[in-house]
Amino acid sequence: MEHLLNPRVKNIQISGIRQFFNMIQEYDNVVSLTIGQPDFPTPSLVKEAGKRAITENITSYTHNAGILELRQAASAFVKERYGLNYDAANEVIVTTGASEAIDIAFRTILDEGAEVILPAPIYPGYEPIIRLMGAKPVFVDVRESGFRLTAKALEQAITANTRCVVLPYPSNPTGVTLNKEELQEIVNVLEAKDIFVISDEIYSELVYEGAHSSIAQFPSMRDKTIVINGLSKSHSMTGWRIGFLFAPAYIAKEILKVHQYNVTCASSVSQYAAIEALTAAKDAPRMMRHQYKRRRDYVYHRLTSMGLSVEQPTGAFYIFPSIKQFETSSFDFAMRLVKEAGVAVVPGTAFSEYGEGYLRLSYAYSLETLKDGCDRIEQFLQEKI
Ligand SMILES: Cc1ncc(COP(=O)(O)O)c(C=O)c1O
Repeated sequence: MEHLLNPRVKNIQISGIRQFFNMIQEYDNVVSLTIGQPDFPTPSLVKEAGKRAITENITSYTHNAGILELRQAASAFVKERYGLNYDAANEVIVTTGASEAIDIAFRTILDEGAEVILPAPIYPGYEPIIRLMGAKPVFVDVRESGFRLTAKALEQAITANTRCVVLPYPSNPTGVTLNKEELQEIVNVLEAKDIFVISDEIYSELVYEGAHSSIAQFPSMRDKTIVINGLSKSHSMTGWRIGFLFAPAYIAKEILKVHQYNVTCASSVSQYAAIEALTAAKDAPRMMRHQYKRRRDYVYHRLTSMGLSVEQPTGAFYIFPSIKQFETSSFDFAMRLVKEAGVAVVPGTAFSEYGEGYLRLSYAYSLETLKDGCDRIEQFLQEKI
């Protein structure tokens, strides 16, 4: 019966990050710098709110779009932090993590043959959904422009079939962000075109230089932009599965139908915890941001001292050094690091073929672990390469 399974599903692959992670499980005494998961506990106030929701039997379905109080809190949060304006009643959807928001946004705007522009190397969560829709990912190589999508490269990639551009900044895996001026240039290309933007801003609270800028801040772009965000990274809540989708009412109305048939609503218990995260615990990201910045400075300093060429990250919690000088594939290099140095990092090719020649390190680990990991890499470079 296997031949009857949907070929589009058969043709997509498990994420390269997970594949690599699973493969290295058999090796002992390995320091892992692989996972993009905050190492802080969820803030206590948030956990208490979740417990209270269970005790008080707030355990039934909620409004499909999410509890209104949470949508209001999310709307107020992005207004205060980023100057974005979304009506809680009909422009905000609470999703099961940013992952679901990505899925339902693509499923609402894509059909067969539609093209989606992806600046690469890029987070592997977009391409499979695009392919499942029979749409076409169009990768734009941003390795030579400091991993930033430029107006020129964007313009060259646009065709009559372009339906959407994904702006994944702050970036996983490179840690690069786009500032207002860089966004303005992209806006100049897009504002007169009928092309949607999906702006994945899941790392917006983890920006170390200047303030986070969103393309939805530009009035000419708001009407065609879908902003995705969530609490996984900002509040260390990956397992609670709370994401947010912000879009103009005419788009949100259609996305809500897909969301409804997909999950009905996000978990009620998690939604109550999320209200607390965005109100009483809304400053929690500041403490974590401070720690991540120290770790970024440490790892950046260590890697550059080893002679590796690396773009200084300005956001998220990843760093993406080049290993081109060693003339070996990212995969082989990462495998050797596991086997010979006892340190695990993700090969750049987990982020599309345009990640070849790079490694992704996550610094969402304690300084102690980061030191151990960097020492091992340094020793490997000195003795084995
Ligand atoms: C760029 C990006 N978008 C979305 C997600 C998914 O986040 P969530 O846990 O909210 O589903 C991740 C998770 O690593 C990510 O790196």
